[in-house]
Amino acid sequence: MTKPKLLISRKIYDQVLTQLNDHFDVEYNAGDVVYSKEELIKKLQGKSAVMTTGTERIDKTVLVACPELKICANIAVGYNNFDVSSMTAHGVLATNTPDVLTETTADFGFALMMAAARRISESEHYLRKGFWTKWSLDMFTGADVHSSTLGILGMGRIGQAVAKRGAHGFGMNVIYHNRSKLSDPLEQACKARYVSKEELLRQSDHLVLVLPYTQEVHHCIAEKELGMMKRTATLTNIARGGIVDDAALVKALRSGVIAAAGLDVFENEPQLNPDLLGLSNVVLTPHIASSSTKTRTAMAQLAADNLIAFFKHGKALNPINQL
Ligand code: DGY
Repeated sequence: MTKPKLLISRKIYDQVLTQLNDHFDVEYNAGDVVYSKEELIKKLQGKSAVMTTGTERIDKTVLVACPELKICANIAVGYNNFDVSSMTAHGVLATNTPDVLTETTADFGFALMMAAARRISESEHYLRKGFWTKWSLDMFTGADVHSSTLGILGMGRIGQAVAKRGAHGFGMNVIYHNRSKLSDPLEQACKARYVSKEELLRQSDHLVLVLPYTQEVHHCIAEKELGMMKRTATLTNIARGGIVDDAALVKALRSGVIAAAGLDVFENEPQLNPDLLGLSNVVLTPHIASSSTKTRTAMAQLAADNLIAFFKHGKALNPINQL
């Protein structure tokens, strides 16, 4: 029997590749280059499946140019690189990798928030540059995390995991805003209280963004929203670039509108706003919140399992759209 043709658009783990080779006629991007749209379209000719990451955009142009495509399996829980309605219109199934990254991503969000609040990167750079000559009482004083108010915007699986760390581990008062209020049992498990977006901005000592990116939430944290936050507050973004207006955030960090930020995602990443690089009160990481070896392996495996299940049983494990 002829195997379906699969493009693996970025480098993955060898054990997952070996498994996919058993089921598919694979074209593999071993060099891990990021394809331009034209290259992606060229590589996708004759392919019925593609394994993508957030760096490959599957939109109407790609779908029209690649009529044999049947499934796109994203190695990510977020799928703002997919034009899902066009995929549905073209009969192309979209899948993602939920659950396997929840706890790892929440760990990282918490670490980034703590690093911003307690000025960990800033003080480390100071030490490495050889500036540390004496201990001082007020050296790098930051904001406490324990017993403070943790605000979460976007209370899905990762938001809830961040909330639990804050409430149960650090005795934080947890508030959240979300499209819909959680059920009472879920709120109790997270020890979290639903508030309006404005209350969230005004009351949070540490605000963590964990909402999926859509056009509706583009720049939903901009100058006005930052202006509502406490001057002592921190902002952490482990969701997606574009949710925060990075230029407005630079201004707010520079002028003391908020105290500090922790950013794992950026507008136009990997080209970030250069002004961010010059600020000492922001911790910057290259979109690695889910990056533990175990979790990234599990994400690639789940994307592979989605592809295998689709061709074997006609049903994927984590479909995003209904065909
Ligand atoms: C995700 O899973 O969405 C992560 O951000 C990796 O892209």
